Amino acid sequence: MTDGKRQILVTSALPYANGAIHLGHMLEYIQTDIWARFQRSQGHECYFAWADDAHGTPVMLWARAEGKPPEELIDMMNEQHKGDFRDFGISFDNYSSTHSEYNRELVERIYAQLDAGGYIDRRRIKQLYDEQEGMFLPDRFIRGTCPKCGTADQYGDSCESCGSTYAPTDLIDPRSAVTGSAPVMKESEHYFFRLSDFEERLKQWMASGALQPEIANKLQEWFTDGLRDWDISRDAPYFGFRIPGTEDKYFYVWVDAPVGYIASFRELCTRLDLDFDAWWQPGSTAEVHHFIGKDIVYFHTLFWPAMLMGAGFRTPTAVYAHGFLMVDGAKMSKSRGTFIRARTYLDHLHPDYLRYYFAAKLGAGTGDIDLNLEDFVQRVNADVVGKVVNIASRCAGFIQRHFDGKLSDALPRADLYADFIGAREAIAADFEERNYQSAIRRIMALADEANRYIDEEKPWQQIKEDGRQAAVHGVCTQGINLFRVLMTYLAPVLPFTAERAGAFLGVGVSDWRRIDDPLLGSPLNAFQPLLTRVDPLKVQAMIDGSKESLQPAPAAPSQPARAELAPEITIDEFAKVDLRIARILAAKSVEGADKLLQLTLDIGSETRTVFAGIRSAYEPAELEGRLTVMVANLKPRKMRFGTSEGMVLAAGPGGSELFILEPDEGATPGQRVT
Ligand code: 2FM
Ligand code: ZN
Repeated sequence: MTDGKRQILVTSALPYANGAIHLGHMLEYIQTDIWARFQRSQGHECYFAWADDAHGTPVMLWARAEGKPPEELIDMMNEQHKGDFRDFGISFDNYSSTHSEYNRELVERIYAQLDAGGYIDRRRIKQLYDEQEGMFLPDRFIRGTCPKCGTADQYGDSCESCGSTYAPTDLIDPRSAVTGSAPVMKESEHYFFRLSDFEERLKQWMASGALQPEIANKLQEWFTDGLRDWDISRDAPYFGFRIPGTEDKYFYVWVDAPVGYIASFRELCTRLDLDFDAWWQPGSTAEVHHFIGKDIVYFHTLFWPAMLMGAGFRTPTAVYAHGFLMVDGAKMSKSRGTFIRARTYLDHLHPDYLRYYFAAKLGAGTGDIDLNLEDFVQRVNADVVGKVVNIASRCAGFIQRHFDGKLSDALPRADLYADFIGAREAIAADFEERNYQSAIRRIMALADEANRYIDEEKPWQQIKEDGRQAAVHGVCTQGINLFRVLMTYLAPVLPFTAERAGAFLGVGVSDWRRIDDPLLGSPLNAFQPLLTRVDPLKVQAMIDGSKESLQPAPAAPSQPARAELAPEITIDEFAKVDLRIARILAAKSVEGADKLLQLTLDIGSETRTVFAGIRSAYEPAELEGRLTVMVANLKPRKMRFGTSEGMVLAAGPGGSELFILEPDEGATPGQRVT
């Protein structure tokens, strides 16, 4: 646009509607929100629109298990999600659901265009089918023995033990995770999107600078491997949009999820009376920026732009992938209390703390981000409270008590003020490039300078000296003005604190163009503490609360909802299983198998080595010394890393949600469990 005002749409990936929001999600939403707020602070027309990702098999099974319509469940989650986002200060302009009429209309329109363009093939394929439940089984809902290493109870697409990937039909003794029954092969017609037709155009799009260098490299590899057609249909029963012209075929959830970006924006256009087509037609000068996690790059950099190209829409200006969130150097773990829900965090801590910490750690790349809880407390307290807020509290009291609450008419150090606003371009460039950590470093260096200035001027001493009143007035006015500039730079990161700072200053701090002139001669409002220090006890309470929040059933299952009981067995059959109390003498990770731990178990009469797929749920050190229960007469299994001489018992769906069974204190290794 000629006046330099850009039109920008930003999105975050759409969270699934069948789970609570956790801090891993919040990393992305905070990253996106800082960027959106920053763009608005520069005077650009920037909207943040997204939605819940409502469709798919898990929601369908959840609704069946609850005996409720899926719409009721997803509406409830939508409210819950929105509440979390608001309380974290996420400034979304629209939050919708992919299960909306806007989305249905757009999905159908895009599909019709793709079909008319010859980009949809129909083919019959064979898949595993659960006759008891009457449904085809997605890979994640099939369990069986790995065809490569023989580990039992693996998913239909990959083995957590040896890491190999395969087709679900390769599994030995496959079982439906929904009913436990043995699935049969069944044929049905599927719809395929001819992705390879877009290879050249995708290459051109990639060359436009839409991607981070590491993602562009990844894409190159995928091009080299060859693009494969994409199965975009699912058979009934499914929770989703029916494919027009079919009785029982539905769009795969990943088809309508990204269309949800556009649909949510379209809803916003209706509300604000914006020109939707001007934003989404090819050649549009408006910008579209998607923020996503690095695990869903394929969908956003191949399928999504290709769908848009084939359907006659513009393509995204940029797709930005970020890394995963770690807590204290490890994957988030429910057993350690580091799988922290957004609501649990908010019950204990101020949202600006986390926003600041994430900003201080986020760069433009795809590296993982570690939330180190000790560092979190120290850093927020030292920087935000100790440096920035401190400037205002050091100066406000003098102005209130000695100068009638009014700022002086001139700055003693206009040059210093000029230095502060001179940093604006560099800080803005950092935000623009999503290099928030660099922006924060620059802002904190300025905060140090402001504090140094006050230290040198010593208003608390000067105020006692005759004839120094005016000088103190000037020093404190200078301090307040430097504070104002810093808060303006930090406003995208600390919206709640910025709001309070604006109330104190009597002028908002959300527009970076307003700091050209200092505040002089104007009254200040009463100073309230803008942000208090992080209390480490509250951090601990949050961790404890996260451990507790494990106990009640989660709001919705992310895994099969109702694995039915296995077929009945007799007591004699059960008696064949020799369960023993075991003490975990040692636990260590296994090189080349990031899901496994190697356990050394004492079962009284002997020690055993067992490879257990519990790495995502436990750190080795926390297991050592604990008691558990093992199957002691399981036939030893030869694995790539050694022989596993038994099996430890654990409950839960898998991943970080696994709990080893542990007897009460007093049980001794070797005792038979009956
Ligand atoms: O991976 C996920 O959590 C998906 N629900 C993200 C969807 S993003 C987009 F395509 F809608
Ligand atoms: Zn395997």
